[in-house]
Amino acid sequence: TYVVVENCIKCKYMDCVEVCPVDCFYEGANMLVIHPDECIDCGVCEPECPAEAIKPDTEPGLAQWLTLNAEYSQVWPNVTVKRDSETDAKEFDGKPNKFNDFFS
Ligand code: SF4
Ligand code: F3S
Repeated sequence: TYVVVENCIKCKYMDCVEVCPVDCFYEGANMLVIHPDECIDCGVCEPECPAEAIKPDTEPGLAQWLTLNAEYSQVWPNVTVKRDSETDAKEFDGKPNKFNDFFS
């Protein structure tokens, strides 16, 4: 499965939702997540993310994000249509330790 990681937070460019063939992205206030049971591992979303915030779960060190994607994809609403990203998205792109902003 693929997983959305930290750099999505407060960037939320949403290019990913347009290319997913199975519509398995779910939307929170500050980031999107992928439903691990619905993702068919096609990989087309990975290069579409301008923030490079989508990774295959075969990459090491993603445990926290795998848990977060699994949890919140069951709670947040499904999203299939891209909207404009936040006006300050670029300001947050690449910012370290964005997890602190997750619930802000
Ligand atoms: Fe959707 Fe494919 Fe990305 Fe999985 S890898 S989230 S199925 S686009
Ligand atoms: Fe986030 Fe990248 Fe999608 S920033 S919303 S994972 S295009």
